[in-house]
Amino acid sequence: MPLSVVILAAGQGRRMNSDLPKVLQPLAGRPLLRHVVDTARALAPAAVHVVHGHGGERVRAALADPDLDWVLQAEQLGTGHAVRQALPRVPETSCVLVLYGDVPLVSATTLRRLVAPAATGALALLTAEVPEPKGYGRIVRDSNGRIARIVEERDADAAQRAIREVNTGLLAAPAATLRRLLDGVRADNAQREYYLTDVVGLAVTGGVAVDAIQAPSPIEVMGVNDKLQLAEAEAALRTRRARALMEAGATLADPARIDIRGEVNVGRDVFLDVNVVLEGRVTLGDRVRLGPNCTLRDVTIGADTQVHANSVLEEASVGEDCRIGPFARLRPGARLHARVHVGNFVEVKNTELGAGSKANHLTYLGDATVGRDVNVGAGTITCNYDGQNKWPTVIGDRAFIGSGAMLVAPVRIGAGATIGAGSTVTVSTPAGQLALTRAKQITVEGWQRPAKATPDAKAARIAEALGPDAESPKK
Ligand code: UD1
Ligand code: CA
Repeated sequence: MPLSVVILAAGQGRRMNSDLPKVLQPLAGRPLLRHVVDTARALAPAAVHVVHGHGGERVRAALADPDLDWVLQAEQLGTGHAVRQALPRVPETSCVLVLYGDVPLVSATTLRRLVAPAATGALALLTAEVPEPKGYGRIVRDSNGRIARIVEERDADAAQRAIREVNTGLLAAPAATLRRLLDGVRADNAQREYYLTDVVGLAVTGGVAVDAIQAPSPIEVMGVNDKLQLAEAEAALRTRRARALMEAGATLADPARIDIRGEVNVGRDVFLDVNVVLEGRVTLGDRVRLGPNCTLRDVTIGADTQVHANSVLEEASVGEDCRIGPFARLRPGARLHARVHVGNFVEVKNTELGAGSKANHLTYLGDATVGRDVNVGAGTITCNYDGQNKWPTVIGDRAFIGSGAMLVAPVRIGAGATIGAGSTVTVSTPAGQLALTRAKQITVEGWQRPAKATPDAKAARIAEALGPDAESPKK
């Protein structure tokens, strides 16, 4: 039976108190709906239909996958109504799996268990035992323990509210069966909505087999309706991902203080200190150590490299045995070969640094190609921007750039050249030579430090120098 997934994502999410549609609220840095779509894809369905309505264009734009089938639910008349909007797009012979855009942590394994009984004609329902059932629909069973129906919290009496077996909202059924059952759903409830959950009672009375599949943990099926639940889901996902990293062999200083918002691959004996944030695709080689408060997005790091505290690395690649930070910033296009040192307050953008090269303090390297074993002194700046254009700087192997050099691009520093400290280099320099631009140092004989001026003398001097309207400093 081909599988058609229907994801409900049209609701406003009033309980979020947010201008952002609920299904776009970020979980681990990605919209809730993105998590659901990706899990659905793991089942290799024939089609994924997303029912959208509230925040329509914004939701579509945030999930630009070309193969999603967007179904408009112009008015949000309930979850049953939402599914009905998608059914005309679903072939009669397929199996329908209904997912909720606000139930992001369900696993593909659980969904496969849910789809299996539907293939034999049953209505399969994902349920869960939860310690705190508040907000969920309750599973009502008959005296023989068989499922009778689902009661929404708002429609439940006190005894029903005490039931801790809840509806997760997720279900699977043959398309034809689901269509027939939905035709019978009425909006005669507290919210005047067409509840998808009512198909369960209708199936029971109509003689359709109902199969309840228990979710392995309440976390997998938690609905994210408000900011509190969003934070709970974030914490759950953080725990899940931290655990996966530790299973892969990484040592975490504190599994509760790491944020993984992307896909991370680690080698052996990697160490991650507290408050590390990993986003996008991050690959860490064997024995890499990340110090406290480091943020990495789309970064590859070779074996034995150490990144010290408070460094920020984005879209960068770092070779083996490098030393980065503390307080270093690698921006997009930073490419560091082996044994490179980039120290505190050094910013590197769109720049290649050859093996063994060092820029240890207070430096900006932008749009530069730096050879091997180059020493870049403290306070060096590649002046790559003329106000209109960006220009390249090329520094040859073994060059020595003295402290405080301004390299005005486009400019080339020859291999093995030395640049005297404090030079402003505007012309390419030959290999192996010393180049410097430096004003001659003088000594002023008999010079005196200024004496403290009276307020009147101060005002007179400012007026003379800056004109009569100039403002005086406060003291
Ligand atoms: C729903 C279930 C409840 C279950 C809970 C699990 C119903 C009636 N209730 O309640 O039994 O315990 O989920 O999380 O189904 N949506 C639409 N169109 C609509 C209404 C909702 O697309 O007209 C979407 C929402 O965007 C959301 C999902 O359906 O993604 C669920 O809607 P929500 O209002 O959050 O339902 P709950 O009150 O949580
Ligand atoms: Ca919900």
